[in-house]
Amino acid sequence: MIRLRSVKKSYRQGATSVLACAVDQLDIAKAEQVALVGRSGTGKTTLLHMLAGILRPDSGEVEVVGQRLDQMGESARDRHRGRHIGMVYQTFNLLQPFTALENVLLGALFGRGAGGDAKHRAAELLSKVGLGDRLHHRPSEMSVGQVQRVAICRALINDPELILMDEPLGNQDRSTGGQVLDLLLQMASDGGKTVVMVTHDPESATRMQRTVDLATLRGVEVVA
Ligand SMILES: Nc1ncnc2c1ncn2[C@@H]1O[C@H](COP(=O)(O)OP(=O)(O)OP(=O)(O)O)[C@@H](O)[C@H]1O
Ligand SMILES: [Mg+2]
Repeated sequence: MIRLRSVKKSYRQGATSVLACAVDQLDIAKAEQVALVGRSGTGKTTLLHMLAGILRPDSGEVEVVGQRLDQMGESARDRHRGRHIGMVYQTFNLLQPFTALENVLLGALFGRGAGGDAKHRAAELLSKVGLGDRLHHRPSEMSVGQVQRVAICRALINDPELILMDEPLGNQDRSTGGQVLDLLLQMASDGGKTVVMVTHDPESATRMQRTVDLATLRGVEVVA
């Protein structure tokens, strides 16, 4: 499902460049559920964005769902993401003028989930994460934890093969976070979906099948 080799990504900062992420080797099989951990600033978000095809590596190979993203242009990567990947951004990225229901439906517009009764499925997803009575609230009219759960629903609306989540439960209380993670992992295992989740919470990490520490990827990968 995911295969990375000798990947490097730097950001230009004036005259210098900052190495944001380096991965010597990483393989994740279909239907695996992986926690991605590492200290702040080690490149977890940068790695997820390369897996999603939002960023292209400076060098190395990034193969995701059978496609070499490092060899594809931006619009091809965008199409690939819409078709195969659900992404929960660390900063949520919901559109402020739209309601919870509309934000989830917008996710369907860019993927393959637009057909059928998308509105019904969006409302059902929102109900499952405890937002059945917040369908018509805008992001500014919800708590941060609620907005985060809307972002999770948007990532799931296209029934993606690969779910990438950047600290998706960082603003949930323990009980809500546990319930949402249960739901996510259940949906993933039912559908044979692959999950890569960045988390700083050791308890969430232990719920996943495997933990990958980004600090260890610069050399040989260590499997916990
Ligand atoms: N646009 C940018 N320009 C320059 N440097 C950047 C940029 N974005 C990120 N960086 C640097 O790249 C490194 C990796 O950033 P990244 O956001 O991937 O870290 P992270 O592991 O997700 O951290 P956190 O746990 O705090 O979310 C950091 O040291 C950061 O300072
Ligand atoms: Mg990050």
